[in-house]
Amino acid sequence: MYQSKIAGLGSYVPENVVTNDDLSKLMDTNDAWIQERTGIKERRHIKKGDGNTTAVMGVKAAKIAIERAKISKDDIDLIVFATLSPDLYFPGCGVQVQEMLDINTCPALDVRNQCSGFIYALSVADQFIKTGMYKNVLVIGSENHSGGLDFTNRGRSVSVIFGDGAGAAVLTRSNHIGQGILSTHLHSEGKHAMELSLKGPSTLHWVPEIIAENPQGDDIPYYPYMNGQFVFKNAIERFSEVIHEGLKENGLEVKDINMLIPHQANLRISQFIQKKLKLSDDQVFNNIQKYGNTTAASIPIALTEAWEQGKIKDGDVVVLAAFGSGFTWGSAIIEW
Ligand code: ACO
Repeated sequence: MYQSKIAGLGSYVPENVVTNDDLSKLMDTNDAWIQERTGIKERRHIKKGDGNTTAVMGVKAAKIAIERAKISKDDIDLIVFATLSPDLYFPGCGVQVQEMLDINTCPALDVRNQCSGFIYALSVADQFIKTGMYKNVLVIGSENHSGGLDFTNRGRSVSVIFGDGAGAAVLTRSNHIGQGILSTHLHSEGKHAMELSLKGPSTLHWVPEIIAENPQGDDIPYYPYMNGQFVFKNAIERFSEVIHEGLKENGLEVKDINMLIPHQANLRISQFIQKKLKLSDDQVFNNIQKYGNTTAASIPIALTEAWEQGKIKDGDVVVLAAFGSGFTWGSAIIEW
C-alpha cells in the first residue's frame, strides 16, 4: 500500500481584471450589492485574442506545478482534468493538455464534478497512487466561465459570481506513510441536479431545438441556472458535514486544522463555515475577493497562493472541502 503527497502546485489567471464597476456597465448591478452578497471585488476574464482557453490555462498552471515538483513532464503517468467548461464538447481537456505538454501516450481523464471537481480529481489520482498503479499524477482544475455567462440583466445573479483561471497539483508517491493525502471523502445527491445546472447544448437540448423552443430568447438553457438560496443552505450543511467526516476518519478534531481551504463559492459561505466550526481567521484561506468563483480551479488556485505565502508548512493538517452542482461535495485531509 502506498500513499500520495502533493509535490508541486501551480496556478494561472488571465491578466484581464474585471471589477464590479466594469460589470455595472453591462448590467444593472453595483459594487455594494456584489460585495455584500458574495465578497467578490474583482475577477479575471479571458480577453479575446489573449490565447487562453480552459486547456491552455490548465497547461500554464501545470507547467509551474511540474517544475516545483522537480519532475519532468515525461514522468507523468496520468493526467486528471476537472472542468465544467471544456474547450470542446468532446474530447475532454485532458488529452489537449497531454498534446500541449508533449507527453507521449499517458492516459488522460476528464472529471465532471463542477465545484467539487478538484476534490474528485484529487481522490481519483490518490487511488491510482495508493494501488501502486501510477507514481506521478498531474491534477488540473481549470475554468473559462466568462465564455459562457449571460452578461445582461437576465443573468446578473449568476454572472457576477464567476471568474476564469486554473490551478494544478502534481501528486506523487510518498515514501513516508502518514504524510501526504490521509483520506478523501466524496458524496453526491442527484435529486438536486437541476438546482445548479446548465441544460444545453446537450443531446437533450441541441442547438436548433433551443432556438425553436425559445423564439423570444427569455429562458435560454445554454446559460447556467442557479437556485442561489437553496444552494447556499445546502452548501453550509454539506461543507461542515464532510469536513467533520474527514477529521473523524483520521482521529482529528477541528482544533487540529492548520489550514482549511474551502472551495471559493462565495465569501459568505466560507465565513458561515468558519463560524460554525469556530475556526480563527488564520485557519481559513480565502481569495475569492480577487478571482470570484473559479469552480474546479478555485481550490488549487487558493492552495497554491496559501503555500506561496508561506501559510502552509511541513506537518500542517490541511483540509480541502467543496460543494457544488450535482449536488456533489467532498473533502481531502492532508498532512503536509
Ligand atoms: N446586482 C444587483 N441586484 C441583483 C443582482 C446583481 N448582480 N442579482 C440579483 N439581484 C437582485 C434580485 O433581482 C433581487 O431583487 P428583488 O428583491 O427586487 O427581486 C435581489 O437582488 C435579491 O436577489 P436574491 O437572488 O434573493 O439574492 P440573494 O440574497 O439570495 O443573493 C446569491 C444571491 C449571491 C446568488 C446568493 O443566493 C448566494 O450566495 N447563493 C449561494 C450560491 C453560490 O454562492 N453559488 C456559487 C456557485 S455554486 C458553488 O460554487 C457552490
